[in-house]
Amino acid sequence: MATVAKTEGIKAFSATHDWESADYEPTLPVSEMSNPLTRNIDRAPASSIVKMLQACDAQMFQEKSGAAYERLLSDQVAKSLMEVAKRVQLILKNPQDSLIVLSGCGTSGRLAFFITSGFNRELRRLNHSAVCSYIIAGGDRALFSSQEAPEDDPISGALSLKKVSEGKKRVLFIGISCGLSAPFVAGQLDFCLQHPDVYTPVLVGFNPAHQARNEPIPGCTFTFHSVVTKMRELAKMQKAFLINPVLGPEAISGSSRMKGGSATKILLEVVFYAAHAANFSRTPITYNGILQHMRSYGKVLDITYSQTEGIAAVMEAAGRSLQCGRGLCYLSWGFLGLLGLIDASECKPTFGADYKDIQGFVGGGCKELGNKEDDLNLMGAESGIAHIDFLHNVLPCLTDKDTVLLLYSHSDDVDEVANLARRVREKTSNMHAVYHQTDGDTAAQQGEINKLCSSTLNFIWPQATPASMGLQHMWELSTKLVLNAVSTGAHILKGKVYQNYMIDLQVTNSKLYCRAARLLQRLSGHPKSLCEEALLKAIYQVDKLTEDIMTCNLTTHTHTARKVKKVVPLALVCLLTGYSIKEAQSHLEQKPIVREAVEACLQEQTLFSGSL
Ligand code: F6P
Repeated sequence: MATVAKTEGIKAFSATHDWESADYEPTLPVSEMSNPLTRNIDRAPASSIVKMLQACDAQMFQEKSGAAYERLLSDQVAKSLMEVAKRVQLILKNPQDSLIVLSGCGTSGRLAFFITSGFNRELRRLNHSAVCSYIIAGGDRALFSSQEAPEDDPISGALSLKKVSEGKKRVLFIGISCGLSAPFVAGQLDFCLQHPDVYTPVLVGFNPAHQARNEPIPGCTFTFHSVVTKMRELAKMQKAFLINPVLGPEAISGSSRMKGGSATKILLEVVFYAAHAANFSRTPITYNGILQHMRSYGKVLDITYSQTEGIAAVMEAAGRSLQCGRGLCYLSWGFLGLLGLIDASECKPTFGADYKDIQGFVGGGCKELGNKEDDLNLMGAESGIAHIDFLHNVLPCLTDKDTVLLLYSHSDDVDEVANLARRVREKTSNMHAVYHQTDGDTAAQQGEINKLCSSTLNFIWPQATPASMGLQHMWELSTKLVLNAVSTGAHILKGKVYQNYMIDLQVTNSKLYCRAARLLQRLSGHPKSLCEEALLKAIYQVDKLTEDIMTCNLTTHTHTARKVKKVVPLALVCLLTGYSIKEAQSHLEQKPIVREAVEACLQEQTLFSGSL
């Protein structure tokens, strides 16, 4: 009930800020629009930031829409979920020569891994063979660190799918691309369409089909849009499935790790849960069952955001740490920990963060998480994700200026949590906790851990959930929401967001390059060609573009951009002031808070044009 009431309230609010009207940012797909609810998020105090994020998340569950968009709880979405769940059930019933593959890029790939591991673990617990596999663009190193370039490679997408499904006679392929945009996933879907005898493609994303990306993909005859068009035809005969409800624009424009990631997790868990219940408990897959399950995720939002002040307190602490060049560490146990790693890894492309700004550590590291490749430890400091790595690399230098956030539940080894908490407390008093428990279950050591922490977000969940798997999913979503809020809010407080745009994003693949060019146009008011020129000058650190640079392809540009910091702010300062790259750099050094530097330039420009 509470969910519906809150959703109604949000609906009334957003009616005056109508992103659904046809003339609102008409050239952009919904996943790239700016959300009217968060236009002033960059100037808001922590508690208001949390409330804005809550309002944005609630948009996911709005049931009716003025425009013709499918929504999370729409009829068509529930029907497609039922059909896909039936395919999963068939594979569970007859797993021989069959496979389910989940794939995506960035957070979408990480969630593919997360969901696959959880489902396979549950199957093994029941002595059933594992039927799921995952693919992430860039391989396993992309699970815990930001690897954006492989998203642009459709061939590697198709080849990795071919490899993982070698010898299988029936494959249910679930490609995830929140923006219906990743060439890596388009390549895989196209591969499925070419081999319909084996592959049934499913696409999960959050734009209406006609907004799928239609830019040519170098070396390919298809675009994401053309693949989606073919899938729509096949969907009429249930030979392909599209699950693409619209969630409303992200709180930070384009940051699909937030609502996009949450909705991915919700939709796929609903599918797997329904198939699992049908196979192991003979619970039929029904329309109402699917909808009821989806709505239970809506309640997770209410329970989580009922602790607005607590979330704001952690956000403020983390913001202070980032402001003074120190870090935020997530210390976690079990699979909640993977959410910490996922959250941390996405801060680099979104906010131009250093990997040390926000780091995640989980018990035994990779071994505990069960990924496919086992050589992650060879990949340098960024892949040190076990508690032992935290003890060696981080704890010795920890001070009160750093923030530590413990993530645990009463089903973890709480003795271990208490031990580590004591060691952290010797170094910093700035330790907080997120703790999940079911009503009536308490861990003896929890009182002590609470005393060691400056604040604890203690979530108490009702016992009534039918299966343990369901309850754990709720804890996970709740943890994801808290971490997304804390890391996003901390970067906002650090000045890494202007209005609701990521102004310091990395320009490391074609989608991010286009997003950066668009942002420059929007903020400077200059034409596209001039903005792209400024972007290239910032990437190559030159005041004049050479013939060589002009003839390089986009891949070379985005590859070069990896090595340069503050590319977009640099380009913007140059565009607004006419400064050289060096002058713009020194301007940005004097005003290290990017938002303030950008604002100063924008103000100067307004004054200048006013005096003409
Ligand atoms: O390219 C960066 C990125 O936007 C990530 O931040 C995101 O998780 C990933 O792309 C995947 O995007 P999508 O799900 O839209 O394909």
